[in-house]
Amino acid sequence: MTTLDTEPATPAATVDVGAVASFTITLRIRRFNPEVDPEPHWEDYQVQAYGSERVLDALHKVKWEQDGTLTFRRSCAHGVCGSDAMRINGRNRLACKTLIKDASPDRPITIEAVKGLPLLKDLVVDMEPFFDSYRDVMPFLIPSGHEPTRENLQSREERARFDETTKCILCAACTTSCPVFWTDGQYLGPAAIVAAHRFIFDSRDHGARERLEVLNDREGVWRCRTTFNCTEACPRGIHVTAMIAEVKKALLTRTM
Ligand code: SF4
Ligand code: FES
Repeated sequence: MTTLDTEPATPAATVDVGAVASFTITLRIRRFNPEVDPEPHWEDYQVQAYGSERVLDALHKVKWEQDGTLTFRRSCAHGVCGSDAMRINGRNRLACKTLIKDASPDRPITIEAVKGLPLLKDLVVDMEPFFDSYRDVMPFLIPSGHEPTRENLQSREERARFDETTKCILCAACTTSCPVFWTDGQYLGPAAIVAAHRFIFDSRDHGARERLEVLNDREGVWRCRTTFNCTEACPRGIHVTAMIAEVKKALLTRTM
């Protein structure tokens, strides 16, 4: 039998497929069907997988080969659309960016819906409260004066000022990893603050004053307790806690 050195220590039932070995993993998924279940419950599924596959691939195998009622969101499968954030082994991750070999496959891989948003079914939560907060910060460019008649230019340095927060894909991994958000669903949350940051520091935008007012609310930026869960969870590598700190500083030093 030939196995790759890079494969993890494999549990039982290793199977040869050419030069690469697949092995049996257990997905422990928190299931909930609101039509029949009074409470969510855990169910185990055995799946044959390769270490180089993603958790999303394993979820597809369960859905397509074992139980078609398993419900989860996904679209691009390449870390772009932000629709498959879930708790994998207790941490918020994108299922399409988490490799099986990195998810401790020698023991059951736990998969559950993100926390803090209403659970609809299995791994699907109601995202509306999340997008309500996003809309609250006015995530669009607010120009001043008349309609522009030519390009609104900015320097490289001005563009770089908010580059990091343009990378957000609105997956909600940050907001739903935040303990303040878990206990106070009214808190705007890290993702909304990241969205506000993207425009507050854009030299072409003239809505900073209004956005900062929204963020100065008692459920705004001051609710952040700097736990860094959001930064750890972000699949885009955004330093979310640092971005929140920049918005706090802008509020403290604002002259407008
Ligand atoms: S900041 Fe990161 S974790 Fe939060 S919504 Fe955007 S991409 Fe997702
Ligand atoms: S499916 Fe699009 S980000 Fe994972």
